[in-house]
Amino acid sequence: MCGIIGYIGQQPATPFLMQGLNRLEYRGYDSSGIAVRNGSLEIHKCIGKINDLESILPDSIEGTTGIAHTRWATHGGVTDANAHPHCSENGKIALVHNGIIENARSLRTRLEKEGIHLKSETDSEALVHLIDRELSNGAKPLTAVRRTLKKARGTWGLCVVFEDHDMIICARNGSPLVIGIGDGENWIASDTLPLQSYTQQVILLDDGDLAVVTSDGIQTSRFDGRSTDSTVTTLEDDWGEADIGDFPHFMLKEIHEQPEALRQCISGRLVLKDGNSRLGGLGISPKKLQKIPHVRLLGCGTSLHACQVGRIAIEHLARVPALAHVSSEFRHNNPVIETNALHFAVSQSGETADTLAAVKEIQLKGGDVRGVINVVGSTIARQCGHGCYIHSGPEQAVASTKAFTNMVAALSMFAIQIGRARNLSQVRGKELVRAFKKIPEKIEHYLKNQGPIQEAVDCIKDAKSVLFLGRGVSAPVAREGALKLMEIAYIPCLAYPAGEMKHGPIALLEEGSPVVVIAPNDSLKEKTISSIHECRARGAKIILIHEEGDSIAEEADISIPVPSTESILSPMLTVVPLQLIAYETALQLGCDVDRPRNLAKSVTVE
Ligand code: AGP
Repeated sequence: MCGIIGYIGQQPATPFLMQGLNRLEYRGYDSSGIAVRNGSLEIHKCIGKINDLESILPDSIEGTTGIAHTRWATHGGVTDANAHPHCSENGKIALVHNGIIENARSLRTRLEKEGIHLKSETDSEALVHLIDRELSNGAKPLTAVRRTLKKARGTWGLCVVFEDHDMIICARNGSPLVIGIGDGENWIASDTLPLQSYTQQVILLDDGDLAVVTSDGIQTSRFDGRSTDSTVTTLEDDWGEADIGDFPHFMLKEIHEQPEALRQCISGRLVLKDGNSRLGGLGISPKKLQKIPHVRLLGCGTSLHACQVGRIAIEHLARVPALAHVSSEFRHNNPVIETNALHFAVSQSGETADTLAAVKEIQLKGGDVRGVINVVGSTIARQCGHGCYIHSGPEQAVASTKAFTNMVAALSMFAIQIGRARNLSQVRGKELVRAFKKIPEKIEHYLKNQGPIQEAVDCIKDAKSVLFLGRGVSAPVAREGALKLMEIAYIPCLAYPAGEMKHGPIALLEEGSPVVVIAPNDSLKEKTISSIHECRARGAKIILIHEEGDSIAEEADISIPVPSTESILSPMLTVVPLQLIAYETALQLGCDVDRPRNLAKSVTVE
């Protein structure tokens, strides 16, 4: 969703701001803008892509202090006026804001009554006028911002620049902000990605923090005025390249990065001699693992599907009851929290508001939550305190691919770990670990021999809808395949456990209807074959994802083999052709693969 970048230092700010905006594009946006302190405040903003903003900028903008924003519309339509930065009536203060000001309507009404002419329909604009009023009443900039925020209700990550003061004031409450520390220069951003080419030293602001950032100093304080000592964090070197390289799209790059991403995730965590895995960051002793009464996993979208795979793996290998929950529903159902139970919050971005809210609900009720997160230092990772990073490297396509594989890997490793602490034998553990370690090369093998993806694309690209079926551990894979195709190719997709098909979705089938079936060589295969027969009897065309060398291929109209593995680990392989089918279909239909309409990479509103 919305993104923020700010710069203050000795060099021209605009190149940093524009580069930062490009780096923030992946979050999803519909307009962008910059404000640079160049004598007066120079503001440029427009709807459309960063290129559109670039095309309206003057040849050079001199200032060395500035802020910039990518907006994903919430309050007010996609218009130039609603794009950020917003500025005060006298043009001396400019503000960019992520989050939602819940009492914006009453704040705006009050301002209008005072004769202030608001230029946009946004909730954010009210803040800049309130700051202006405080400054006119004699307050210093930090006090003016603090007093303004005391009148606001909601969430914010915001930056403010002033014509008359060379500083950037930023504040965080519910929307992340990171300050990048340089030598005689500093940056502010809504996530670490735009900062990584400039500095590894960062301050991760906490909710309720404010900071006054100048070229040679950062002063942090709390909402109530107390000053704080901010902790400097050194960003880990991410193994992945944030740049697109030679790939035409981030999604394709990220699909192809899966073998390496998986190696990064399992490295040092799978212990063959013990037939065990070790997720040290979880901080749970074998003794505690033995006593956990149940495990609950929470996520949204792709992360939810990873939770559903993880749930099955945990029950299967550890014989511990496990449940996967839709994060956005969780806290609204007044969940009963068992304090001895273990909860996992699963999220690529670590910023998903629904999952964060679920984490807070569990913690409020005394529950124990661990994060399974990709972005280091993200809000959910910090809120959980303990957890396991999945080490996928930066994932920038809106459609999540390599994060899914690694979430499944992390949860499967946990399933082995809790299984070994309970009844899983060392012999069985060793078989699983051995098979696990081979998966990266098996994905590589598959990516070199992708099978008839184009044939599958031809079969589905003009379909009214596509049905995805799978059983057991392949049912969530079917859901993931459907989500992928739907979100980037805009084809209505349904995903069902294969056995449910005859209870309703079968009504959709007619001559030529495409049905994608995921059927690894597991104990459920025979039953899946029955579902295939039921589909074929109604004229459906079967696109079958199956294991290499399996005679089930004969049941398919289009057969896509993947290397075989332990069936509980098969989702890490069977999902890959589904990702490619979605990618190639979207491409053929002329869709914006990396930035599908209406979607954002990190969904920071509930
Ligand atoms: C995945 O392709 C989607 N874009 C989306 O469903 C995503 O997985 C979901 O919003 C959760 O995001 P998170 O993993 O960052 O929490």
